[in-house]
Amino acid sequence: MDSMTFVLFGSTGDLAKRKIFPAIYNLLLDQKIPRAFSVIGVGRQELTDVEFQSFVEQSLRTFSRRKPEDDSNLEEFLRIFRYCHLDVTKNEGYQSLLEMVQCREKELGIPENRMFYLSVAPKFFDVIALKIKESGLGSTKGWKRLIIEKPFGHDLKSAQDLNEKVSKAFEEDEIYRIDHYLGKPMVQNLEALEFANPVFQALWNNQYIANVQITASETVGVEERAGYYDHAGAIRDMVQNHMLQMLMMTAMQLPKRLTAKDIRHEKRKVMESLRPLRKDDVVKHVVRGQYGPGEIQNKAVIGYREEPGVTRSSMTDTFVAARLWIDDPFWKGVPFYIRTGKRMREKSTHIVIEFKNTVKDLYIAQNEKPVPNLLVIQINPNEGVSLQLNSKNPLKSGQIEPVTVDFSPDTKDVPEAYELLLFDALRGDSTFFVHWNEVESSWKWVQPILEAFEENLLPLHLYPAGSEGPEASRKLLEEDGFQWWLDK
Ligand code: BG6
Repeated sequence: MDSMTFVLFGSTGDLAKRKIFPAIYNLLLDQKIPRAFSVIGVGRQELTDVEFQSFVEQSLRTFSRRKPEDDSNLEEFLRIFRYCHLDVTKNEGYQSLLEMVQCREKELGIPENRMFYLSVAPKFFDVIALKIKESGLGSTKGWKRLIIEKPFGHDLKSAQDLNEKVSKAFEEDEIYRIDHYLGKPMVQNLEALEFANPVFQALWNNQYIANVQITASETVGVEERAGYYDHAGAIRDMVQNHMLQMLMMTAMQLPKRLTAKDIRHEKRKVMESLRPLRKDDVVKHVVRGQYGPGEIQNKAVIGYREEPGVTRSSMTDTFVAARLWIDDPFWKGVPFYIRTGKRMREKSTHIVIEFKNTVKDLYIAQNEKPVPNLLVIQINPNEGVSLQLNSKNPLKSGQIEPVTVDFSPDTKDVPEAYELLLFDALRGDSTFFVHWNEVESSWKWVQPILEAFEENLLPLHLYPAGSEGPEASRKLLEEDGFQWWLDK
């Protein structure tokens, strides 16, 4: 792996503390960082290097999956870090940052390979990218890369504007857009499940699959993020990015080779075949919900409109379910359902593939009803794969019953999403990062929904906290003769 300087904007923020420092630390323990590696934290607070290093240490002690027991490792780790105080909107600071980067490059013999990580509010994404260019930080003899957090835009137009600005400073193949769902081990595993198993590969199409259901339910509410969430809603917060990424990863067809380029090409084909929604049709295919008061794990919780920072008449969606169609020869006629919501019964991200039940009439004479075969991929918080089959139960006179073949990996020492993603970015592998054409096509698909919500062209269904979401979401599948599997 190339030696490099890692410049972290927003280095005293929450994400840095909870995810980024622990990820770098765990990569060091696994010897997955370059031999010469310098990290420069950039932030608005005035801190000395020593104060910053103790902030980093604190973050490891609190948030790292492996705690720093061995002090020699810890010291070695903290020595990598320097701090630069900077107001990201002003030119002055960038000059001192450049000097600091160059000084460390000289000290450690690092060629001018520079990784810039923007863990800051989205309004600063373009500002910082352009200042990196203007200040000369981006003029390197080695390579440069930009890691950028979500959200990438607020709608189609703002995403296009942002991309235009950022691409003045970085080429597309230098930009690593994070979607942390793509870092989840089970999402990364989808590709292997689909392509490394001929038994699934052969069935991965409309001849055998009846429908696909992708769920990301949460028990948490809006927490302290009303300021952001009340303008975003579930549609921007989860659907435009995480849900559509999971859809692409599930629906893509076998790439020519397992390279970033070929995988992204297949994902792009999925999005190109996704049937666009017209604003007037949104009501037929999309369900919008908002949580009211209720009970989660025997604890009473307030409704969304009572949450601090939320307006009492808010029409923000905390739940979205939708039916999507991929009009290509593989998936024509197979509905894909997605749903996501806050304050639901349980925290669970999973994908259910329901196979066509061609044998259901075969057993009618025996008065038996074979259930459909289901492939269930559990992503979060539990990871696993299970396959529901039909089998005779010898203890019940050979009656046919569903049985489940289960695989749950041991997840004790599994790296976290940020470790996997950072490691990929460090070695220049963009497979699990979001390409601009994926961002743009996702916003294009979502845009009519944003407008329909804005114009209240569909009802806002209230659902009690702790439930499976609004009744309308159940009806959406019932219309097609299906049901959400795994609901209680
Ligand atoms: C984030 C959203 O991107 O994903 C949050 O902004 C959401 O609102 C979170 O809670 C869910 O992530 P995970 O990994 O807990 O499923």
